[in-house]
This record gives sequence, C-alpha cells and structure tokens, in this order.
Amino acid sequence: MCGIFGCILKNGNAAPIIHAGLKRLEYRGYDSVGEATIHENKLFIKKDEGQIDDVHTRRNLDNLPGRIGIGHTRWATHGAPYQANAHPHTDCTGQTAVVHNGVVENFMELRRELEELGHIFKSKTDSEVIPHLIEEKMKEGLPLSEALRETLNRLEGSYAIAVVSAEEPNKIFCARKESPLVVGVAEDAVYCASDIPAFLPLTNKAIIIKNGELTVLNDKGCETRKIADWTPVSREPEIISWTSKMAEKHGYPHFMLKEIYEQPLGLKDTLRLQESYLELMTAFLDRAGEVFLVACGTSYHACLAASYRFSKLAFLATHPIIASEFVEQHGRAVNIDSTILAVSQSGETADTLAAVEHARLRAATVLGLTNVIDSTLTRISRVYACQQSGPEVGVAATKTFTSQLSVLAQLALRLAKKRGKVSHVEIERLEEKLEHIPEIAGTMLQSQGEKIKQLAKKYRDAKCFFFLGRGISSATALEGRLKLLEIAYIPSIACPAGESKHGPISLIEPGFPVIFICPKDETHKTIIGNIMEMKARGASIIAIIEEGDEKIKSLVDDYIEIVKGVPDVLSPIIYVIPLQLFAYHMALERKCDPDKPRNLAKSVTVK
Ligand code: M6R
Repeated sequence: MCGIFGCILKNGNAAPIIHAGLKRLEYRGYDSVGEATIHENKLFIKKDEGQIDDVHTRRNLDNLPGRIGIGHTRWATHGAPYQANAHPHTDCTGQTAVVHNGVVENFMELRRELEELGHIFKSKTDSEVIPHLIEEKMKEGLPLSEALRETLNRLEGSYAIAVVSAEEPNKIFCARKESPLVVGVAEDAVYCASDIPAFLPLTNKAIIIKNGELTVLNDKGCETRKIADWTPVSREPEIISWTSKMAEKHGYPHFMLKEIYEQPLGLKDTLRLQESYLELMTAFLDRAGEVFLVACGTSYHACLAASYRFSKLAFLATHPIIASEFVEQHGRAVNIDSTILAVSQSGETADTLAAVEHARLRAATVLGLTNVIDSTLTRISRVYACQQSGPEVGVAATKTFTSQLSVLAQLALRLAKKRGKVSHVEIERLEEKLEHIPEIAGTMLQSQGEKIKQLAKKYRDAKCFFFLGRGISSATALEGRLKLLEIAYIPSIACPAGESKHGPISLIEPGFPVIFICPKDETHKTIIGNIMEMKARGASIIAIIEEGDEKIKSLVDDYIEIVKGVPDVLSPIIYVIPLQLFAYHMALERKCDPDKPRNLAKSVTVK
C-alpha cells in the first residue's frame, strides 16, 4: 500500500521522472499523490487528492524545478484522502519533506508530545510525525542522517520512507522496516522506490534495502548503514531480468498468486490497526441489542467465521447475513437497538450498501469494515475500521479475506476482554497466537506450495468437489469452494460436514473428491466420523490437517499439513490459504485465467 519514488539525476528535471515512476506504482494505491523537489537550496512541493492523471491535469506534476526529488502515491490508512493528508509531509520550517509507506502505530503519543513542544500539524496522518521528529532532532544540532536515525528509533510499526531537505540539498535519505524499499542505480541517476517496476524502464540494476537499514542516495550512488549500530553495509547491485509485465506482478505470473504470497505481510499490517477505532466498535457491539454481520461473497464468509468467534469468546450471538437477503430476512426486525457490522473489501458493494441504508433508515448503528478508506461504506458508517491490506487486483479475494478474518478476530478478542467471559490467560494466549499468524502463514506457503500444485495436477479432471468442515471451519469450507468455482469453473458443494448426510452425500460415488478442513479443535473427533462416512462410499479424501495428525493421515488419500498450535478461532486464517492455492493451480491446469474470471467484477456495484 502506497508507492514511493525518488531520484537524483546528474542532469535534467526530476519531476517528470518522479511522475512517471509513480504512475508505474499506481497499483499500490491511487487516492492522492504528491512530489517534493529541491532546487537552489529550496524545497518545492505539489500534492493533491485524486488519481495521478487527474492531479496532473489540474496541477501539472512535471512543473517543479530541480534534479532531486521524491514522490508518493497514496492508499489511505490514517486520514481520508484529501489534499492535506497527501504526502509529502513537511516539518514546521518547511525545509524537510517526507514520504512514508507503512503504519506508525504510536503516532498518537508522538503527535501529542510534539504538539506540546509547539509543532503544528496540518494533516490527520500518522506519517506527519516523522518530519516533525526529524526537525526536533535537528534543532539539537544533529545532522540529518542522525536526526533521521533517532527519529526511526522512536517509531513503532512499519515504514519505508524517503526524505529530502533544503538543509542537505544533494541527497535523499531513505530507510525501511517491513515496508519495501529498493534502490536503482544507473549511469546518470540513482533512484529509490517501493518496488522495482517503478524504475525498471530506467535501470535494471537494483540494490534491495533490508529491514533496519538506512541509505543515503547521492550523486555517486548510495551509502547504507544498519540503523541499530550504524555499521556500514556494502551490497552490490543485482541485475533484474524481469520484463515490465513480470515486474508489475513482482515476478509472479498472476496477481492472484502474488496476493496469496503477500498474506504474511498483509496480516502483519492488519495487526497495526488504530486501537481507538477497534475500541469504539467494541463498545457499540457490547451494548447492541442484536448484531447483524452483513456482507457478500468472501466477505460474508469472514462474517460467518466471526459469528463463531463472537459466540465462543464474547458469548455474543450474532446473525451473519448475506447482504442481498438482509432486508427480506430481517428488515422489519431492525431497530434503534440493532447494530449492523457491514464487511466489504471495496466498501462499494451495492447489496451491502443497500442493507446498510435500510438499517440506517431504521436508526440502527452501522459499523463498517473495509479495505478502502473514503469508500461509500466509510462515509455511511458510524465507526469504521480499515483492514489495511493494500490494493487487491485479482478478482478473487485472497489477502483481503485473511485480513478481514484477522480484524474480526481482534474485535472478538477485545469484546471478550470487555465482557470478561473468558479468562485473561486464555485471551493473552490467543492475542499472542494472533501476533504469530503472519509467520505461520509464511511457513505454510513455503512448505506446502509445491505439494498443492501437485494435488491440482492429480485432481485436474474432477467434475465436482465437496468442501466440508465443522464449526468455524464451515466458513473455511465455503470460502475454499467459492475460490474453486469462481476461478476454475468447477461446480462444487460446501456445507457443514454434519449436514452432508442430510442430502448432499447422495452425490458421492467412487472417486468423488472431498476436501475436509480438519484443525485439531473440538470438532476433530466428529469430523473423523464424517471422513469415514465419505470413505465408506468410495470418495477420494483430501484433508487439511494439523502437522503430525497421524489418525487422519491414515484415513485419507492426500493431505496438506499446517503447523501445530493454531487455535480454533484463528484457524480459518491459515487453513484457507492452501484452498486459495489449490483453486489457483486448478485454474491454471484447466487453462483459466485466475486474475480475470468470466462474468465477474472486482467490485459489484449493481443490486
Ligand atoms: O468488496 P466486497 O468485499 O463487498 O465484495 C464482496 C464480493 O463481491 C466478493 O467477495 C466476491 O465474492 C469475490 N469475487 C470473491 O473472491
């Protein structure tokens, strides 16, 4: 989310080069844009809300003087996309400008502290604390690189930043922690950017800046140091052999695969939501007479999983409802005591918005969870949380689903704490597990990716699949089935495993593939019974199991293992990932384009 581009040219004007670089990063976000250049020891800035082309038409982004500059294309996380919130942000002196990608978790404390020292803030962003902190350190007499280092030591969260200053007009200062940053080296220029595609048409020599490093670009190239102990780092440029098309997708053949592999990072960002919003949402949920969880498609599956968590952890019964059915099913029951938690990645899904409008007319409280700040949902919600997954290009929702699950888990845990129904020890255990989920997702992707590809080869000709789970894994099963049918066009069935014997089992005949989602939770014993029922009828069983689950391994034809110790309430976040990958590889096996499934749109704005 958010794209950064900067350059120092030997000759010529930086602004048009920055503008073109930002255009190539537009897929990282596009709600506002800005550039800062340095010329004759002065800082020049242009920034505004809107997509790059619109802002350029209004303000001519190429018309800034100087051969050195930085730019930013924004994906709002803190503060709506309007001009003051666009990057670059400056300090009080107007000498130093900063662009930032990431989330400064402790920005509220830092802002308060800086305001007490007399700093005036112009935006609502977390990022603006950075130039003010630098200014404060420079007042103490530190050179910019050290002022920046001291500033970075105060930041909690993630960042990739680039800084220019009239104080040191021939340099760009960059640093990163978790958010990406790369340097491009050419004969006549040096670049910094969030991603390689931004400078690939200009140079194929890239130096990857690693976590915890600060690098200073100058006319000769760049000098890098470790932020922790200030030791110099020497790294030779790598030659990048990607074509521009490959680079857009980071070398992955499809956006969907790129987004599946982005999940560990996305899940980390999702753990950095602003506490105050979650706290407020928790308060509304706590005092609601009844709670409806309203969404469509994948977002509905996130709601379904959430309903199990609210019940198990906070002893709160909620109604997960498919948005297009909401008015018919519950319309008249909604009243001033009802709370609607609407979940929508895009924040623009017509069915979800229609349900929300209905609830608003009946004076219900509307809470929103979305990935797009300033979407309609954020505007009509009493309180909203942004899931911070960054733009998702693939039509099939992947990383945005696991992020939704993570935010909803955070909400359920907060509510559990507030209601005191579950012991503190248990809540702390779950919070700690949630912190480790990004890592577990990474391990899963690394260890099982190839096996899942082989599974897709084995089952490529299957005409239909069953997806079965019990408890919260019913939601995982539904999502696995949606992925497979929407991108590989395989008609499939999903239901709670216990329900299969009430009808669907009649479809089973020898060789019929059935995918079981089997975390080692309270449902484990019963699901073994369901596996036996299917096996007895000749089904081919594929199970997603916990590592070392010998009992299930001995019963099934194929299995995918997930590391031990994922608690049941968090299991959908991890157990769905192999199903996403399976659907992806099945689509490829069947020569379907996973990024562009037929008849579907990323955002469904009609009812
Ligand atoms: O933007 P939303 O979350 O409101 O979108 C809801 C559905 O349209 C969406 O999840 C859809 O089901 C996806 N294609 C699933 O991959």
